[in-house]
Amino acid sequence: MRRRRISGVRKLILGSVGVLALGGLLLFATDVRPQNVALNDLRFAALPATPKAPAANPATKDKVALGRLLFWDPVLSGRKDVACATCHHPQFGYAENRDLSIGVDGIGLGVSRHFKPASAIPLVKRNSQTILNTAFNGITDGGAYEPATAPMFWDLRAKGLEAQALEPIKALEEMRGDAYTEANAIPAVVARLNGVAEYRDLFARAFSRVQPITSDQLGQALAAFQRSLTASNAPFDRYMRGAADAMSDAQLRGMRRFQRVGCINCHRGPMFSDYQVHVLGVPDNPLLRVSDAGVDQTYAFRTASLRNLTHTAPYMHNGVFDSLRDVLEFYDDVSGRRGRARNAHVSREQLDPLLRQLRDPDDRAGDLIAFLEALSDDSFDRTIPSRVPSGLKPGGNIQ
Ligand code: HEC
Ligand code: HEC
Repeated sequence: MRRRRISGVRKLILGSVGVLALGGLLLFATDVRPQNVALNDLRFAALPATPKAPAANPATKDKVALGRLLFWDPVLSGRKDVACATCHHPQFGYAENRDLSIGVDGIGLGVSRHFKPASAIPLVKRNSQTILNTAFNGITDGGAYEPATAPMFWDLRAKGLEAQALEPIKALEEMRGDAYTEANAIPAVVARLNGVAEYRDLFARAFSRVQPITSDQLGQALAAFQRSLTASNAPFDRYMRGAADAMSDAQLRGMRRFQRVGCINCHRGPMFSDYQVHVLGVPDNPLLRVSDAGVDQTYAFRTASLRNLTHTAPYMHNGVFDSLRDVLEFYDDVSGRRGRARNAHVSREQLDPLLRQLRDPDDRAGDLIAFLEALSDDSFDRTIPSRVPSGLKPGGNIQ
């Protein structure tokens, strides 16, 4: 009896030690699995499933539907030949498949878009950004953001989708042309909308009041529609929400590498952007006569979001890199010593310290690119309206 009892206790002790040891081993084993090391890094975070709207512009079905028609309607441009969708097309993830945009006087879509003969309109000096997920612009690692003042553009010069929406209408090369002056652009376009009975009805319904259409309402309807264009269910999001098999082994290795190399120091949080500006020294686009010096002439540009890149080539503020491989080769030769083109106006000392601290971005195995591909969600809304209230061609001269 006695002996048995002792041996029972001993078994219990030995058993507990065993369980503890096994537990420790398991813990240790899970800890060294590369994906989990990255998973514990709070700079990696899934997007919220749905975005929030500013208090002054709640999203409603009618407003979003009206915003979609406006987005596709070239009536917003001076010569009625360019719509927002001309440069932000669902076929290219709501960006554009060409380095620098052609607005007024353009014919065609993406790489095949060109100017009409003898046009005097210049190229837009930047690469078109995607509209997808702009609802989340400015989001922090912890998921906080303020849609009314969200940072917009490659140089952060506009705040909030509502205010941003009126800018392209005023820009000479994007939508205005020489049909009216910059100061007259918005009043002229709003007067046109007021002249279309269908728009008067749609605005009255969306804003629950009958009155002349205002420029504020134009900005609000466009913003509400753009905020509906989210893509927040990429393999990475599903993985972060607990679906362990949502990313492939290569993508998991790439996630770890993205962290170890230091990409995550700038490309962080749910949008993979810190929404700060950094000097990278991306080479100038040779099509531009004047070098684009970015924020305050410092050659700083906003950290690009890395979401949906599989749809939005070419890359960087001026579209100089055609592929993700080209982007990585650029990062792999920050000093330019191995012959990659650098921006001649930017000295090595001006480069962002976080860029100089990158550790071996060389991606021979392709794991980084595999990870970047896990940040694309292909299930976004691609609806193209069959007609717009002005009776013009949806999307402008894109055929
Ligand atoms: C001629 C091409 C063109 C047209 C037309 C155009 N855009 Fe853009 N869009 C661009 C380019 C280029 C940028 C980047 C500009 C910059 O950063 O200086 C941009 C940037 C944006 C952004 C900022 C995205 C971000 O993440 O910061 C939004 C939003 C946007 N456009 C919405 C619109 C809306 C709404 C319209 C129509 C009223 C429109 N665009 C018309 C080319 C165009
Ligand atoms: C110092 C901050 C910083 C670091 C570190 C950094 N990036 Fe960037 N990244 C940026 C900025 C800023 C841009 C936009 C630059 C421009 O357009 O001139 C950018 C642009 C990009 C783009 C182009 C996206 C687009 O839509 O055009 C990709 C892809 C990219 N980075 C991937 C990476 C990878 C992968 C790493 C790690 C090897 C990395 N970045 C490290 C700041 C950084």
